[in-house]
Amino acid sequence: MQKDSAERYTREKYTAFAPFYDLLSAEHPVYGAGRRRLIESLALREGDQVLDLGCGTGLNFGPLQNRVGLRGVIVGIDRSAQMLVQARKRAQRHGWDNVILIQADATTMVAAEVSEEMTQAGGSGLSRVGLATYSLSLMDPWVRAWGNMWQLTEPEAELGVLDMQLPSGVSALLSPLARAACRLGGADIEAHPWAAVERDCAELRSASARGGHLQVRVGVKPAGRR
Ligand SMILES: C[S@@+](CC[C@H](N)C(=O)[O-])C[C@H]1O[C@@H](n2cnc3c(N)ncnc32)[C@H](O)[C@@H]1O
Repeated sequence: MQKDSAERYTREKYTAFAPFYDLLSAEHPVYGAGRRRLIESLALREGDQVLDLGCGTGLNFGPLQNRVGLRGVIVGIDRSAQMLVQARKRAQRHGWDNVILIQADATTMVAAEVSEEMTQAGGSGLSRVGLATYSLSLMDPWVRAWGNMWQLTEPEAELGVLDMQLPSGVSALLSPLARAACRLGGADIEAHPWAAVERDCAELRSASARGGHLQVRVGVKPAGRR
């Protein structure tokens, strides 16, 4: 698929299917395992502000709230207004008034402007933790989105990426299924965006699940590196 039509396909998909995303995303049988590993691996503290890039319907919000509490803040950024409608409903349903939602394209947004928006909404301009779950592999080019996550987090922030690759070992038999799931979701299974954490962060922690299909990397932004 050409870049433009692939982009349009993904955009339209997350518009039309937003209300059904949680049901269709295979969270319980497959993808929740990676989410749990990532959130366990992050050194989250009560009161932290967490940036969730490509937050979708907010499936990370519950486990994050359990760790940062209501004194913490969750900033969800997503390009899709419809996914953010679902995220807002989730926050309202649970009475989480510490959630800030911002509609922006993570690859083209201007970090300084988003930082200002975060401050105006009652948060800090920079977050102590940044994560992207199953989202960077949909963003083209994902390195720009990673750069913006870097800009929007504090020095020595905890940064985490959870994304997908082809399974290995015996689980390689499930590769056609993994490929189909990624194609359906508009993700590039070859993107491997966790490479940025390995390259740029210190104190690297790695985990995987589902035969290596789900890859988690967490690290710390080195002090003094903007
Ligand atoms: C597969 S969903 C993952 C959602 C959520 N992070 C999760 O773990 O369930 C990918 C999300 O990335 C968003 N997205 C894709 N490209 C984006 C971009 N360039 N900027 C911001 N969000 C984007 C989509 O709208 C969608 O909500």
